[in-house]
Amino acid sequence: MNNKIKQEVLTNGFIREQIDPAINLVEEISRLKREKNAVILAHYYMVPEVQDVADFVGDSLALSQKAAQTDAAMILFAGVHFMGETAKILSPDKKVLIPDLNAGCSLADSCKPADFAAFIEANPGHTVISYVNTSARIKALTDIVCTSSNAVQVVNSVPLDRPIIFGPDRNLGNYIRQVTGRENMLIWDGACHVHEEFSLERILELKKEYPQARVLVHPECKKPIQLAADYVGSTAEILNFAKTDTADTYIVATESGILHQMRKAMPQKNFIAAPPLNSMCDCNDCAFMKLISLKKVYLTLKYELPEIEVEEELRKQAETSILRMLEISR
Ligand code: 13P
Ligand code: SF4
Repeated sequence: MNNKIKQEVLTNGFIREQIDPAINLVEEISRLKREKNAVILAHYYMVPEVQDVADFVGDSLALSQKAAQTDAAMILFAGVHFMGETAKILSPDKKVLIPDLNAGCSLADSCKPADFAAFIEANPGHTVISYVNTSARIKALTDIVCTSSNAVQVVNSVPLDRPIIFGPDRNLGNYIRQVTGRENMLIWDGACHVHEEFSLERILELKKEYPQARVLVHPECKKPIQLAADYVGSTAEILNFAKTDTADTYIVATESGILHQMRKAMPQKNFIAAPPLNSMCDCNDCAFMKLISLKKVYLTLKYELPEIEVEEELRKQAETSILRMLEISR
């Protein structure tokens, strides 16, 4: 292995290399995938060209299920760090790659292990449910992991008289509390900067312009945005809702990457990205997700770096809570 490349990854978190503009990246990625028996798993928030080279595109739940099942030798996770880490925890014998180690998550960062451990200790006797958007250390402190697709199911799997600690997303937590009617839930005060940024005022302006449009909202959004929704759901649920619904225009309040699959699946319908508070932008992009480019996917497959490593003791502690989630969602 090229030491310069290793050093580059240690320093920058990704590989910087000039590549010949004549190279067809899509063809090269496909060749490398075959040669190395690699699978590319991509989240819906990836840029369209990365989604299009993936073997599977999905939401956090579907991607964890794929990562646990694949028989490929290598997984390239086109997503953020906690997604690659979850894949490595589930498939420790496989090489798991992520194109840029700087692809973090503001929500995962809003829950520090020492603070979360102290919160759990201060509230004994609770079942701890954590959103998959957390580090391995948080998963190791957790009883059951959940995603936005199965949070209701996971919460409902806990006996009614057993109190719950839910972290780290306060908007998802409050939404789940409202849907399940569960009062005995303590909710961690974390949030995703992308979903918290949507502007109700600007969504209502769009509704005036497109009165027939349905508003689709991710549960990580704030309550006023959820109240303006015709449908609240995870990215996969939003996509599926639009497929079976009769409207022809939708205002979509989640990261704008999802619009690519919506437009591909329903070219006859009109999908409008809900705008954020910042009036300079028309859609809300996750800066972390958007660090993953086609060029980085290519270089990552070529050099098999950056690689995700999880220390075995921690991996085992974190695995139990993810496996419980997968069992509940079978
Ligand atoms: P889902 O994939 O569960 O919809 O979550 C969205 C998200 O914020 C991922 O980072
Ligand atoms: Fe994290 Fe939000 Fe980006 Fe998802 S969209 S990776 S929750 S910062």
